[in-house]
Amino acid sequence: MTYTQTKPLADAVRDDFPILQQQINGKPLVYLDNAATSQKPRQVLNAWRYYYENDNANVHRGAHSLSTRATEAYEAARAKVAQFIGASSPREIVFTRNATEAINLVAYSWGLNNLQQGDEIILSVMEHHSNLVPWQMIAQKTGAILKFVPLTPLETFDIEAYKQLISTKTKLVTVVHVSNTLGCVNPVTDIVTIAHNYGAKVLIDACQSVPHLPMDVQAIDCDWLVASGHKMCAPSGIGFLYGKERILEEMPPFLGGGEMISEVFLDYSTYGDLPHKFEAGTPAIGEAIALGSAIDYLNNLGMDSIHTYEEELTCYLLEKLTNIPRLRIYGPLENRAALASFNVEGIHSSDLATLLDNDGIAIRSGHHCTQPLHHLFKASGSARASLYFYNTREEIDRFVVALRETIDFFSDVLV
Ligand code: ALA
Repeated sequence: MTYTQTKPLADAVRDDFPILQQQINGKPLVYLDNAATSQKPRQVLNAWRYYYENDNANVHRGAHSLSTRATEAYEAARAKVAQFIGASSPREIVFTRNATEAINLVAYSWGLNNLQQGDEIILSVMEHHSNLVPWQMIAQKTGAILKFVPLTPLETFDIEAYKQLISTKTKLVTVVHVSNTLGCVNPVTDIVTIAHNYGAKVLIDACQSVPHLPMDVQAIDCDWLVASGHKMCAPSGIGFLYGKERILEEMPPFLGGGEMISEVFLDYSTYGDLPHKFEAGTPAIGEAIALGSAIDYLNNLGMDSIHTYEEELTCYLLEKLTNIPRLRIYGPLENRAALASFNVEGIHSSDLATLLDNDGIAIRSGHHCTQPLHHLFKASGSARASLYFYNTREEIDRFVVALRETIDFFSDVLV
């Protein structure tokens, strides 16, 4: 990758993010923890507030005007999600609390009812806990077997090993699109094509890709895809499951209750149409509407522009980090997303993050919900700087200067 001196996208959007204007410990905040959660622009906060100040009512129930407006705005948000990821219909979008709940929906609705003793599920060793623990639970209940795609020497998804693992016993392949720890962008279209040749279904964890890359679920041809709103400028408490309509039709409900039924009798019930049969109870209405507003915001910037800008910024970050002695970056240096997980020899990642916070710089430290990956690296955790389109080169410069000073400080203490 190369970077050029184009006018930063961040210049155009910075004022939209009031939270970024503050000081932390007397220094301007540099927020580099975007893979954990993104910040929210004023436009999204306004949409959320507008809903509660003007339209708040329950959806799909009341005959009154507020309920009609709330329902229309909620369903308009669903249509925006469908358009944003290239789904063929809003019926293919189920609102959930987050990606974790969406994966659990597939695990309990489809997995529990379709997997049997000896069936195989292929995952990768880089999965987030949210795309690992539910499948461990389903495997324990059904007798299905989990198989794991290892890493290449470059610390990417080993597609050749995947080709060796897959067989007619494979019923499901469930993999992350962009690793939240390695930053690698996995070849999901090839993964899906290979899985379908064996009759296996494919779920894509797109939490770290949907906020950053143009997405087209029909081109990828995955059977399910999940993402969380809070990583893409929307509030927490809202995420979504995409599923091919034919497959969602065949899946039984996950949760029972109001909103998801057609008719209820004392001894049995019939269920509503897609996608409502998967949305039991009052949903996060204002949050879904705010997610729709976040999608408007991202579309206005253009996902291609966001991706291009982040590629340049990532290149700049990696160039700076690779020049720091004793610093080891995890994952490939090419074809990667806008984040860098790293360790510095002899210094605990939590100590790095704590001292950087003294300089107003927010990075994450810990296992990033990928403990098995850290076990492979024989590391208890790592530090991680993760970018979004509102970050600037100047912020990366401040981060790198502070990081170098922190490393020097610990080096002086340790000698
Ligand atoms: N999964 C989020 C992260 O990577 C929380 O930080």
